[in-house]
Amino acid sequence: MWVQALSLTDFRSYEQADMQFEPGVSSIVGMNGQGKTNIVEAIAYLATLTSHRVAQDAPLVRAGTEQAVVRARVCEDDRSVNVDLQINPGGANKVRINRAAATRARDILGIVRAIVFAPEDLSLVRGDPGDRRRFLDEMTIQRHPRIAGVRADYDKVLRQRNALLKSAAGRSSVSMRETLSAWDEQLIEYGTDIICNRQQFIDDLAPFVQKAYEHIAETAQVEVRYKASSPELREALAARNSTQDSVRAALTNDVHARMDDEFRRGVTLVGPHRDEVELQLDEFPVKGYASHGESWSMALALRLGAADVLRADGVDPIIILDDVFAELDTTRRRHLADMVHSSTQVIITAAVEHDVPEELSGARFTVVKGQVSAA
Ligand SMILES: Nc1ncnc2c1ncn2[C@@H]1O[C@H](COP(=O)(O)OP(=O)(O)OP(=O)(O)O)[C@@H](O)[C@H]1O
Ligand SMILES: [Mg+2]
Repeated sequence: MWVQALSLTDFRSYEQADMQFEPGVSSIVGMNGQGKTNIVEAIAYLATLTSHRVAQDAPLVRAGTEQAVVRARVCEDDRSVNVDLQINPGGANKVRINRAAATRARDILGIVRAIVFAPEDLSLVRGDPGDRRRFLDEMTIQRHPRIAGVRADYDKVLRQRNALLKSAAGRSSVSMRETLSAWDEQLIEYGTDIICNRQQFIDDLAPFVQKAYEHIAETAQVEVRYKASSPELREALAARNSTQDSVRAALTNDVHARMDDEFRRGVTLVGPHRDEVELQLDEFPVKGYASHGESWSMALALRLGAADVLRADGVDPIIILDDVFAELDTTRRRHLADMVHSSTQVIITAAVEHDVPEELSGARFTVVKGQVSAA
């Protein structure tokens, strides 16, 4: 898949920018702070409705304006789709697909599939469990866009359940327990769906990460494991005949078993919002043991592996490499170039043109103070 045209209005530093791309490699070159990442961030936002840099939408809108618009024409095989996304930090985002208004912004998900690798990704291995959960959600949504709806429903139930637990302030009455239980069915249903999809993603991802790591760095035993919040859930997921039913049963048991603890602690203690991804390199946890270079290679392997998962699903995602070559030595640069150059579209940003390996010489754009020009 590839983006043929991109137009930004009041997005980040851009009042207006219009770009035309070709399949193959495009590099966006410019000095620090000129607006390179802003461009690729816009493409990534179309794919995930989130930014790889900020959790909130407000910074995406040009200072002094109220809304940003990102428009793109995306091609896959011989079809093309026009998407038009209005980002309104004060309210709901609006989406048009081929000029027809979509019911919800998330109807756009699945049209653009993109994998971004950026310096921020070091937090995939060194950051909090929440950073890895975001990766899981982003990827399960790119694979199965309906998960975005399940995720939103789950978050809503979780907020309501947590609000009730907090208001109970450590005490539990019969009526409070009944109200809490009323949320349980939905928590379990959505939670099971999310957990099973994440587990499936990790099962599919792990062999690709092993392969990518060895390709970029060196031979090593790489482990990527989904770690659910309780031993019972982990057992249900690990069983060879694991099914959605067995996971649901384990989650149901957990929810019932932890109710007293939940009233004491004032938060929901079981569910996919407590899960984690374990990463190991030669039997040591990556976080806390791996060197800077190893952590960086691991993060890159996770992203490249994720791209392979989408390819195995039959989708060729747009590969975005934001400012990554400067961090890599020549050998690793070459290995990375090797692994991405056959993608339908690769978009690279770099402050120094020389850092982009020759294998990836393609179309060049330069950005100076928010003005983009094709070189
Ligand atoms: N909402 C906004 N409104 C106006 N300007 C913004 C907004 N958000 C970011 N900017 C500006 O955009 C610029 C950063 O752009 P960007 O991150 O794309 O730079 P870059 O070319 O990728 O730089 P680097 O090489 O350092 O990564 C900064 O000058 C920043 O002040
Ligand atoms: Mg940048």
